[in-house]
Amino acid sequence: MPDFHIRLLTPADCEWVNRVIVTNWGAEIVVTHSEIFHPAYLPGYAAFIDEEPVGLLTYNITGNGCEIVTLDSWHEGHGVGTALIKAARQAASQVGCGRLFLVTTNNNTHALHFYQKQGFVISSLRINAIAESRKLKPQIPLLDEDGLPIRDEIELEINL
Ligand SMILES: CC(C)(COP(=O)(O)OP(=O)(O)OC[C@H]1O[C@@H](n2cnc3c(N)ncnc32)[C@H](O)[C@@H]1OP(=O)(O)O)[C@@H](O)C(=O)NCCC(=O)NCCS
Repeated sequence: MPDFHIRLLTPADCEWVNRVIVTNWGAEIVVTHSEIFHPAYLPGYAAFIDEEPVGLLTYNITGNGCEIVTLDSWHEGHGVGTALIKAARQAASQVGCGRLFLVTTNNNTHALHFYQKQGFVISSLRINAIAESRKLKPQIPLLDEDGLPIRDEIELEINL
């Protein structure tokens, strides 16, 4: 399997990033903690094999925190997710953020496993928060592909 490389997103990436977000996240927007994000316009990193994107992370800096807004790997189990987290961690540290955090949902047990292996710890649990998110983004399904309800927000963080 060829090696991948990571680089910072530039405005020239906006179009394909938007396509990936619509495909993987159901719309051009992502809603977490009742806030609407447009990931295609956020800073981020992408992983490539040759010129082909195989992973994408977008983030948003707010005060002391850096939030990972989206993370997707379509070359799973080869270190792409880990490398993108490392890049975000470095970016957050460089601008003096005290914490790197993200929000996932109760059903995403694979992400919960992955993030805890990366050193993240649960910092907040918001029961039924997705009902509020659905008012802003009706495309969020009631059930995931395994039939689990998509219901609660789980926030995880790493202190930097
Ligand atoms: C969660 C996600 C981003 C992980 O991405 P990934 O590219 O598979 O991540 P990695 O390859 O770095 O790590 C995954 C596993 O592969 C292992 N791995 C890492 N490098 C590896 C390598 N070179 N060879 C084999 N396995 C490797 C890791 O140890 C890890 O296993 P572990 O969790 O048991 O420790 C990916 O599964 C994904 O896109 N999921 C769907 C979207 C999603 O849920 N995003 C998060 C929303 S909050």
